[in-house]
Amino acid sequence: AAGDSFPAVVVGSGYGASVAALRLGEAGVTTLVLEMGRLWEEPAADGKVFCGMLNPDRRSMWFKDRTEAPLDTLLWLDVVNRPIDRYPGALDRVNFEEMSVYVGRGVGGGSLVNGGMAVTPARSHFEKVLPGVDADEMYRTYFPRARAMLGVNSVDPDWFGSTPYYRYARVARDQAHQAGLTTAYVPNVYDFGYMEREERGDVAASALASEVIYGNNHGKRSLDKTYLAAALGTGKVTLRTMSEVESVRPEPGGGYVLAVKEIDVNGSVVSRSEVSCRYLFLGAGSLGTTELLLRARESGALPGLGEELGTGWGPNGNIMTGRANHPWNPTGARQSAIPVLAIDDWNHPTHPVFAEIAPVPAGIETGISLYLAITDNPERGTFELDPASGKLRLNWRRGQNAPAVASAKSLFDRVNRANGTSYRYDLFGDDRAFAGDFCYHPLGGCPLGAATDAYGRLPGHPGLYAVDSSLIPGSIGVNPFVTITALAERNIARVLAEDVTTGR
Ligand code: FDA
Repeated sequence: AAGDSFPAVVVGSGYGASVAALRLGEAGVTTLVLEMGRLWEEPAADGKVFCGMLNPDRRSMWFKDRTEAPLDTLLWLDVVNRPIDRYPGALDRVNFEEMSVYVGRGVGGGSLVNGGMAVTPARSHFEKVLPGVDADEMYRTYFPRARAMLGVNSVDPDWFGSTPYYRYARVARDQAHQAGLTTAYVPNVYDFGYMEREERGDVAASALASEVIYGNNHGKRSLDKTYLAAALGTGKVTLRTMSEVESVRPEPGGGYVLAVKEIDVNGSVVSRSEVSCRYLFLGAGSLGTTELLLRARESGALPGLGEELGTGWGPNGNIMTGRANHPWNPTGARQSAIPVLAIDDWNHPTHPVFAEIAPVPAGIETGISLYLAITDNPERGTFELDPASGKLRLNWRRGQNAPAVASAKSLFDRVNRANGTSYRYDLFGDDRAFAGDFCYHPLGGCPLGAATDAYGRLPGHPGLYAVDSSLIPGSIGVNPFVTITALAERNIARVLAEDVTTGR
């Protein structure tokens, strides 16, 4: 098909992409956003846009025959996952050989399916991970800007202290304190005023109706309601959905040409076309951005890309684990799906852990305390393209989780000892207490200051930028989207000031 041309194209519509789209639009640059997933706005026959976690249907996952939820089994029983029809659902699980990665698909990327936890990293850890970035400027300007735009707020401690929906978190908090550990409230982009109205029955329930990883029908300020709404509001930004960018090549006179595949809800190809642009911003996530760039390097299309591309990948030290509570200490059948409290032991000298107290929104008493632990795992993986299939391959061995498991175990052994409790071995499909073979926080692949310059520019190819989680080299110590957003704000400010001269 004949190609359209735009001054700027943004690939993907997650955090980095949304920041780029808004700031380009505000600067008067006509911009096209290409997103492979759906726009989640039309209610289905049941009146809901997204399906819930207790009764998942085809809207739950990206072209799967069966849901693949993180908590696989209960009492080793296969009661969690369901057969579904293949459909462009909101949550994808990309299964590499020895690591599975959860990502969001749709307008808003990960913001559609994530827990909304909006955490600014400890400055000391940020400086260690990204020593080339001026931390003063980040903590003075860009972190506050990101938090304000994302709509970060916090649970009212009084309400937290009394609502049955956070009993599970209070139980886990008290047990942590019993072990001498510190807990901290975790800010979120879910509107806590709305959540309180849910409890009173004044509004339709979402967090309090077990909605999260397959999308929230209400309450969550996902990117489509914040950055992307503002971007479209500039009048300069347009959005094309169900449009996957398959490859990138340079245009002889400057700029780039993208090959775009448009699919329908059955996954059938509707059209193949080309789009050209002067400035290209890659925001397809750690996996998506790295894959596009590796393909362009391997094919010879973008020869300037160096050896650092594909390196510096990590799962942010993610480990999930569950503990079994005593029968006389129930966690509650009603649980808010939005986590608000964490055990903060990040200052531990050898085993730093930031462990979020996660819900088990099963609608019944399970007696489980569940955690997503973020650890400081120094192991890193690399990406390459499978020569046969041309698909992304992640070189990450199961054993590379060992440091993360050791840190999580060190913390939760203390909690168990202090409370006379033990681990749950029935949650992850076999008899492991610790699950480190999947992650929610893929980071790296196109590390800042290594595969790119200090602002995400790709070497040798003017006007080409990485803007997303691929820039962060493997760890950030807390949930990553506030950092991804703030870094994107910093980088786009520089790029708009120094590079972008046409299209305004
Ligand atoms: P992101 O992954 O958000 O978006 C990339 C987009 O690009 C997607 O929409 C994708 O469909 C699209 N795309 C990819 N390839 C493409 C192509 N070739 N062409 C067109 N489009 C393409 N973080 C946090 O801080 N707090 C939390 O509570 C959580 N919780 C959480 C739960 C779950 C279940 C998940 C999966 C993730 C989280 N996260 C999280 C992580 C967080 O969501 C994640 O770090 C960010 O979404 C990453 O942002 P990016 O901008 O890198 O891309």
